[in-house]
Amino acid sequence: MRNTVGWQVERSSTTLRRTPLERRDLRPDDLAVRVDYCGVCHTDLHAVSARDGEGSRPLVPGHEFTGVVTETGPAVTHFTVGDQVAVGNIVDSCGECAMCRAGQENFCHAFPTLTYDGVDRHDGSTTLGGYSREYVVRDRFAYPLPAGLDPAAAAPLLCAGITVWEPLHALGVGPGTRVAVAGLGGLGHLAVKIAVALGADTSVVSRSPDKANDVRRLGAHGLIVSTDPEQMADARDRFDVVIDTISAPHDLGPYLRLVAMDGTLSHLGHLGSITVETTDLLVGRKRLSSAGSGGRLATATMLDFCARHGITADIELFPSARVNEALDRLRRNDVRYRFVLDMSDLG
Ligand SMILES: NC(=O)c1ccc[n+]([C@@H]2O[C@H](COP(=O)([O-])OP(=O)(O)OC[C@H]3O[C@@H](n4cnc5c(N)ncnc54)[C@H](OP(=O)(O)O)[C@@H]3O)[C@@H](O)[C@H]2O)c1
Ligand SMILES: [Zn+2]
Ligand SMILES: [Zn+2]
Repeated sequence: MRNTVGWQVERSSTTLRRTPLERRDLRPDDLAVRVDYCGVCHTDLHAVSARDGEGSRPLVPGHEFTGVVTETGPAVTHFTVGDQVAVGNIVDSCGECAMCRAGQENFCHAFPTLTYDGVDRHDGSTTLGGYSREYVVRDRFAYPLPAGLDPAAAAPLLCAGITVWEPLHALGVGPGTRVAVAGLGGLGHLAVKIAVALGADTSVVSRSPDKANDVRRLGAHGLIVSTDPEQMADARDRFDVVIDTISAPHDLGPYLRLVAMDGTLSHLGHLGSITVETTDLLVGRKRLSSAGSGGRLATATMLDFCARHGITADIELFPSARVNEALDRLRRNDVRYRFVLDMSDLG
């Protein structure tokens, strides 16, 4: 085993502590990556909060990171030591099912291996995430970081970015599409940047009116305040696509009413069971959809698109030792718009 160090959730708590960790020895198609920057996704916060009082398996969060290849297995041909790479929220898949064959490894019928709190397909161990100084990853699930993308600000593209890219792309968003992004956080602000770059007529739906200046800076036309019934009524049937990135459970009705006839609400933020009033779909023949993460091809395409359009996240960069503060602020919705941890303080 290889020794490294990272930030692990303590047993029966929601506090992360600096902890020595082990990584597997390299398999033939593995890369060892020195993790330089790791984004703090709201999913990390959900995972840490769910661990409170539990604690059977080790939890090291982090599933959007960039770094440098430090070693390669003998079968690796596409990477060499010193390459800058990016890794997202899935690190393996069966490679054989219809989804994998279609390039949608994120929907693998045998379930993709998650970057943390997943089960390694070969040795059955629990995967430990990117809040650490080293990660060992199968080469197919590492992506060359395009030149010109700042490695710290690019890290969030690997979860937040790809998660909004796939539905925007699949729903055919392009010049003139009317897009609304609900919830302006990590996913939301990247959805706005990408939708604007695709040429969409983009708006934001937010409960935070003080984000109005940011909305315009991001290139969107305006902000609809979700807590103002008049503004929500004025926006009825106005959007071909609504990208819902809200992190908490919420009534979909008000957001479905923003969707135009035959349009789609893509529900990405809160994963879990929901109740839908069918008349909210019936009236206007509306569609409800979801998505998550991305396939290898889409991830590489998204990175290329972001490099060409100069898209990265708006970040607050913290030394990794401030990880608990970052999670606290994310919990309080005090983030504009992504925390990224600088792992260099781990040695
Ligand atoms: N589908 C997937 O594969 C996937 C991938 C990554 C993340 N996620 C999930 O997506 C969600 C968003 O992640 P994120 O990292 O973007 O989180 P985030 O940065 O915290 O942003 C979430 C935004 O949702 C809005 N919001 C939060 N609580 C709300 C509430 N109670 N009512 C209404 N709006 C609320 C806020 O926007 P305003 O202040 O603008 O209202 C907030 O900025 C999380 O639940 C995360 O687990 C899913
Ligand atoms: Zn994530
Ligand atoms: Zn598969």
